[in-house]
Amino acid sequence: MISSVLPTYNRAPLAFVKGEGSWLIAEDGSRYLDLGAGIAVNALGHAHPALVQTISEQAAKLWHVSNVYRIPEQEALADLLVEHTFADTVFFTNSGTEAAELAIKMARKYWYEKGQPQRTEIIAFEGAFHGRSTGAIAAVGSEKMTKGFGPLMPGFRQLPFGDHDALRSAIGPNTAAVIVEPVQGEGGIRTLPDACLKGLRDLCDETGTLLILDEVQCGMGRTGKLFAHEWSGITPDIMMVAKGIGGGFPLGAVLATEEAASGMTAGTHGSTYGGNPLGCAVGASVVRIVSDDAFLADVSRKGGLFRQGLEGLVAAHPTVFESVRGQGLMLGIKCKVEPSEVVKAGMAEHVLTIAASDNVVRLLPALNIPDADIAEALKRLDAAATRLDRNAA
Ligand SMILES: Cc1ncc(COP(=O)(O)O)c(C=O)c1O
Repeated sequence: MISSVLPTYNRAPLAFVKGEGSWLIAEDGSRYLDLGAGIAVNALGHAHPALVQTISEQAAKLWHVSNVYRIPEQEALADLLVEHTFADTVFFTNSGTEAAELAIKMARKYWYEKGQPQRTEIIAFEGAFHGRSTGAIAAVGSEKMTKGFGPLMPGFRQLPFGDHDALRSAIGPNTAAVIVEPVQGEGGIRTLPDACLKGLRDLCDETGTLLILDEVQCGMGRTGKLFAHEWSGITPDIMMVAKGIGGGFPLGAVLATEEAASGMTAGTHGSTYGGNPLGCAVGASVVRIVSDDAFLADVSRKGGLFRQGLEGLVAAHPTVFESVRGQGLMLGIKCKVEPSEVVKAGMAEHVLTIAASDNVVRLLPALNIPDADIAEALKRLDAAATRLDRNAA
């Protein structure tokens, strides 16, 4: 008999009742060190006092009003994002997938309004993940994502990740935009080198193609900059944000330049819940904390500390681990065993990690994880790997 919850997830037999910083407390009271943070969502850990205060105060005032009215909390968050990024304007969504949908619509509408309606094609990359809507799966195009869900939305093309020559020959008179994650998350913490991102920007400039960056997972301080593209010095035309920006509250956004957004006039897009006062109040608290230079510098420092420890683990467990990758607190361990085995062994040691493609286990802890918890995480990961060493022996 089908479960009352649609069985689209292979869930671990674990349920949590409370969160405290980087820790989750299970039904039986036992504590788990959370290196997944809801897959890069709980950017400030669980129950951060400033966020608890913000959401409580806002909940007592106003949760939801329609976007047919001005929403001051939404305007305040949009102003903050405009102040801290390349963007001139922001649309709020409730998820990364909805941000992908708008990014696609915005790019196509741009060219339609410019009198080039044939420019509808969007180029994406193998190994990418942009969400589960029909548009987002068509963008990625893999059999795993699309099988059985056709007919797929037309107008997408996939190229090998980081292949500049393939991109140069693929961009043509029908190309509207290129969409890429500066660091692929689900794809296995695969970073697009700065030189590639710069080359991509140049190619887009030469051909007038819009550059859409998907920073749903790698943005909001995760790599040690507010947004990952800042490392390369380039800026996109359109950017998708979600996950960390709500600190655990469902919130996403599309940020754009005035030019890229020029087709999106009144009546062309909307959302009942997107940009509600509750979500935006929390989002503003998160952005204020995470955009602070000292906070971001500390993410880099913690990332360095964690990485150094992980390199030691790789050296100590050569039959389990192969290498470490990633930047800041968006880290991946390339494994020699099935990543799901590492995740399972971690659970047995009460440390939570997330599997990804390319045989990688992801570590995406809270950006404010205490140094002591990093040390504890390394100890537990070492114990988890020892379980697998024993299995291999
Ligand atoms: C890079 C990227 N884009 C888009 C999405 C989709 O976001 P959501 O699950 O909030 O719809 C995800 C989710 O994992 C993601 O990692």
